[in-house]
Amino acid sequence: MDTAGRYRRFTTMEARGHSPAYERLTGAIADDPGLLALIDELPPAKRQPNLLLAAVRFLDGPIDDYAAFRAWTATHWDTVRATMLERRTQTNEPGRCAVLLPVLARLPQPLALIEVGASAGLCLYPDRYRYRYDGGAALGPAESPVVLECDTAGAVPLPARLPEVVGRTGVDLNPLDVADPRDVHWLECLVWPEQRQRLARLRDAVRIARAEPPALVRGDLNETIRDLVAAVPAGATPVVLHSAVIAYLSPGERESFAATMRDLGCPWISNEAPGVLPAVDRRLPPGPSPDRLLFTLALNERPLARTGPHGQSLEWLTDRGRAD
Ligand SMILES: C[S@@+](CC[C@H](N)C(=O)[O-])C[C@H]1O[C@@H](n2cnc3c(N)ncnc32)[C@H](O)[C@@H]1O
Repeated sequence: MDTAGRYRRFTTMEARGHSPAYERLTGAIADDPGLLALIDELPPAKRQPNLLLAAVRFLDGPIDDYAAFRAWTATHWDTVRATMLERRTQTNEPGRCAVLLPVLARLPQPLALIEVGASAGLCLYPDRYRYRYDGGAALGPAESPVVLECDTAGAVPLPARLPEVVGRTGVDLNPLDVADPRDVHWLECLVWPEQRQRLARLRDAVRIARAEPPALVRGDLNETIRDLVAAVPAGATPVVLHSAVIAYLSPGERESFAATMRDLGCPWISNEAPGVLPAVDRRLPPGPSPDRLLFTLALNERPLARTGPHGQSLEWLTDRGRAD
């Protein structure tokens, strides 16, 4: 797909209904040969709409009006380009803990969490957030500023108490540091402009992580996962988890990771888009059409639920498939 097609697809499939500003900008970029030519100077993996828009916001460029955005971006192109080459789309969404929680709570406690593709590690704090499923009573530490709302369907095994977490380790090609204001600003710019609630939640989660930073290592998940699991002390259950990560890997790297996880045999929680973990997809019952952007939550490749990509919904699957 060419760059215009990519931006048009982003407009209709991703921004529409979620971000009027991004819908307007990417729709106009798709029809702007001059700006498309600049974007095409970048390697294909760096031409993403999300990366360009976050870079312009990171540099304080205007996003409310296309003419102003276009003029500013063209004038500052060298800096925008450098930022896009330096940074990555590393959206870190603590809300995803709401869909991980029911699985984590059922594992033998205490847990040593190992997140691959951790970004800043904000999904390593499931025991530090509060949860409200279907608007009911909140579960979790009363003093937590982060309250995760999640709509459920089907027989979700909602836990009575939070898991006990004794280890928070992660690996990322480029770990972000919750103590570094520039890294935190980048994370903020990855949240779409109108999503004020997500932004506030991100800032609160960063404060929690700063008080008790995760142990993040820089590296490739395939090259580090065995050592990370081996380092878990006796008496804790090593749990490997990831969300919105496997799509970044080549098919060979995905298969290699899955093969390693099968060999390691520890609990392995994946929360990923359809199409990236074939063994999970094969066991997934027929469900909603692919234009409904839902992830699949799985434990050791057994699909358990369909989830909202930011953790906003959790549809538990029955043995026969769809939620009851
Ligand atoms: C979209 S972010 C998701 C972050 C986090 N898992 C979450 O759900 O909020 C994907 C992350 O995966 C990381 N990543 C991509 N490929 C990787 C690899 N081969 N090894 C380690 N990390 C990787 C990226 O750098 C990025 O931080």
